[in-house]
Amino acid sequence: MKNPLTLIFFFILLLLPFANATVPFGQLGPQGSVLFLNAFHFVSGNSSEELCADHFCAILNDDFLQCTVYNTATTPSHLVGIEYIISSKLFETLDMQERQLWHSHSYEVTSGFLIEPSMPTTIDDAAMQILVGTYGKTAHTWRYDAKDLSVPIGVPELVMGYTHDSQITPDFVNARDVLFGSNTTAIMEHREKSIKPPASVIPGADSWKYG
Ligand SMILES: *[C@@H]1O[C@H](CO)[C@@H](O)[C@H](O)[C@H]1NC(C)=O
Ligand SMILES: *[C@@H]1O[C@H](CO)[C@@H](O)[C@H](O)[C@H]1NC(C)=O
Repeated sequence: MKNPLTLIFFFILLLLPFANATVPFGQLGPQGSVLFLNAFHFVSGNSSEELCADHFCAILNDDFLQCTVYNTATTPSHLVGIEYIISSKLFETLDMQERQLWHSHSYEVTSGFLIEPSMPTTIDDAAMQILVGTYGKTAHTWRYDAKDLSVPIGVPELVMGYTHDSQITPDFVNARDVLFGSNTTAIMEHREKSIKPPASVIPGADSWKYG
C-alpha cells in the first residue's frame, strides 16, 4: 500500500458497504473499482461557462485515475466528458506545451469545491490529502446542462478547474450543495485545518489564468 492513489482505492473498498447504504443508487460505480467525486468545471477561455460534474473515477495505477464525467442536473444523468487525473510526479514528466492542457486540484480541494458526497470526514480527508497534489485533464463532449442539446454535437471542449474564490457564481455552488446535502463553506473551513496543500502549483498547469 505504498502508493497514494491505491491508498484511496483501499479506503473506498473499506467504505463501500457503508457508502452503499447512504449514497443514492446510481452514484457509485461498479463495486470496488470507482471513486465518486463531484466538482465544478468551466470551459477553457470562458470561466462564466460553469459546469457541475459528477466523476466516476477508476484507479489505473499508483499515479493515474481515469474518470467518466456525468452532468448532475437531470435524471438520468448524461455522459458529458472524461477526466484523467495524475500525480504530481507524472505531471512533472510532461513538457510545458502539454502541461497547458491540465489544471491543478489544489484550490479545488481547499475551497471545498471538490467533494465526495456522503463520504465520512476521516475517509474524505485521506482521499483529499492525496487529490490536493494531483492534476487533471478534462474534455467535455456534451454541453447538456448549458444548451439542453438532445444530441452531443460540436467539437469536444477542453475544460478547467477554478483556482480562486471570485471565479464562480455563488448560486451555482449553492445549487450543488442543495443537490448533495453538502455545505461547501463548512468543508472549506474543515480542510483549512485538516488538509495540507502543496506549497505551489507546478509551472505549466492552470495556464488559462495567463491568457
Ligand atoms: C462566456 O459565457 C457566458 C455564459 O454562457 C456567455 O454569456 C458569454 O457570451 C461568453 N463569453 C464569450 C467571450 O464567449
Ligand atoms: C454552512 O456552514 C457554514 C460554516 O460552518 C455555516 O455558517 C452555514 O450556516 C452553513 N449553511 C447551511 C445551509 O447549513
